[in-house]
Amino acid sequence: MRISHTTPGGSEEYVHEIPQFGLGVFLMTDPGECRKAVLAALDAGYNHIDTARVYTNEDEVGEAIKESGVSRDSVFVTTKLRRTHATGYDEVLEHCQKSLELLDTDYIDLYLVHAPPEDPEHRAPVWKGMEYCLEQGWVKAIGVSNYGPAHLESMREYASYLPSVNQVEFNPWLQRPHLVQATKDVGAEVMAYSPLARGHKVGDPKLVEIAERLGCTPAQVAIKFCYDEGCITIPKSSNPSRIVENIKSLDIDISSEMDSIKGLECNYVSGWDPTTEP
Ligand SMILES: NC(=O)c1ccc[n+]([C@@H]2O[C@H](COP(=O)([O-])OP(=O)(O)OC[C@H]3O[C@@H](n4cnc5c(N)ncnc54)[C@H](OP(=O)(O)O)[C@@H]3O)[C@@H](O)[C@H]2O)c1
Repeated sequence: MRISHTTPGGSEEYVHEIPQFGLGVFLMTDPGECRKAVLAALDAGYNHIDTARVYTNEDEVGEAIKESGVSRDSVFVTTKLRRTHATGYDEVLEHCQKSLELLDTDYIDLYLVHAPPEDPEHRAPVWKGMEYCLEQGWVKAIGVSNYGPAHLESMREYASYLPSVNQVEFNPWLQRPHLVQATKDVGAEVMAYSPLARGHKVGDPKLVEIAERLGCTPAQVAIKFCYDEGCITIPKSSNPSRIVENIKSLDIDISSEMDSIKGLECNYVSGWDPTTEP
């Protein structure tokens, strides 16, 4: 998939390719857990890893990529500026450099502001810092996460480059058409986190019935739904057989069940939702 930064004037700059499917590594905190999961994922054909400073495993992501023997440019690495670090321009530069060091890499493919900085006064300088990281080539693309329509719209006042991605919770139980449209309106792609609603919904009886009709697993239905809706989709699993099961969802045709899957919408937020904060 192609991502780019739209200037407020409407032109596109810093065009970049992003794999539309990847492994999320949130809550992989046992020593070696993240390294093993990333190795299993790369072996299964994944080429995109989504981490964050707050997950405290950027070092294991970097180690696994090196250990796997795949070339750095064949793996897309997304990481995020921790919310408590999103307090000013200099802080962004400092923490981007720290993530580069932890990942042990020369560049980050996509760097996201993890959530709207809590102090609205910090939002413009933080984004200016992100733009500096982009211009320096420390990162190939920049974006945001958990930004709601109002946060995105106000970026037009201070951004030289609008975000390429907005990473938000998206799954069959939380489809967010208004937020998806607001993301597209600034020229960004939706990156769907918690495609399995953190595992809370894998046993949903209606999902199980749909999966039985399709001849696949419930998790595969939810993952393929996010993907087919055009989202960059990043399910997490530390379990090697589920890591394989999840990427195999890309081969499944769910088109005959799209209406029933859309009918699962129930505005269920599995984690946090800063998109509605002022
Ligand atoms: N930007 C943000 O604020 C934000 C917030 C949340 C998540 N994220 C990103 O999005 C990624 C994915 O979201 P998530 O980790 O919240 O949740 P998720 O991917 O929706 O669900 C992960 C849970 O589902 C289980 N699971 C995975 N595959 C399964 C399968 N095939 N069958 C049954 N259960 C399965 C996992 O357990 P096992 O590991 O035991 O398989 C884990 O408990 C994160 O890892 C992170 O990279 C970002």
